Amino acid sequence: MDFDSLSQLITENRTVRRFIENEPVATETLEKLVGLARFCASGRNAQPLKYVLITSEDTRARVYPLLKWAGYFKDWDGPAEGERPAAYMVQCLDTHYGANCLCDDGLQLEAITLGMCTMGLRGCIIKAFNVPALSEVLGVGERYVPRYVLALGYPAETVRIEDMDGTEDADFKYFRTPDRVHHVPKRPVAELILKDMR
Ligand SMILES: Cc1cc2nc3c(=O)[nH]c(=O)nc-3n(C[C@H](O)[C@H](O)[C@H](O)COP(=O)(O)O)c2cc1C
Repeated sequence: MDFDSLSQLITENRTVRRFIENEPVATETLEKLVGLARFCASGRNAQPLKYVLITSEDTRARVYPLLKWAGYFKDWDGPAEGERPAAYMVQCLDTHYGANCLCDDGLQLEAITLGMCTMGLRGCIIKAFNVPALSEVLGVGERYVPRYVLALGYPAETVRIEDMDGTEDADFKYFRTPDRVHHVPKRPVAELILKDMR
């Protein structure tokens, strides 16, 4: 893969929160995605993250109400019936290997979501959820602590990147327009480079 292809993939790897709910995602697909997580860098190489794969309608219906969607959208509680995720991957920390996972969680989520993108899938990384209630639904015991829920499916919304103007007070809140497009502002490269010490 060349740089431009990788750049395009990363650019396309946007958060989506509305899905074609009745277009299923096979467990075998989720297993392939876990296969990408397997090769990610890992602090101490402890590899303490494990995944619960959820595709069944019954379990999806129990997981959905435990999640908080798009905090900036005060008048939107999350995707309506028919637009909810077709699958979930719950990333859990296996505390047998320690109480933290450094940045393993983010590295793996990026690898998984990039892999999803190559398959036409999109998703939403969710940190705001009811941890005890989700643990109960998962039934995996206290050893495994849910860290992130990755909601996924085939997308039912378009996402567009908006270039931020580079001023300190530029608005970084994502927003929607009536054409069902979700807009996500991103800072310019120059703003990400704190100092050039060449
Ligand atoms: C660590 C992390 C936690 C997040 N938690 C939530 C969440 O709880 N609910 C939600 O709807 N989106 C959540 N998101 C999605 C972000 O809102 C999204 O990444 C951001 O708006 C930028 O959009 P983009 O992913 O398309 O670049 C989370 C993303 C990250 C990386």
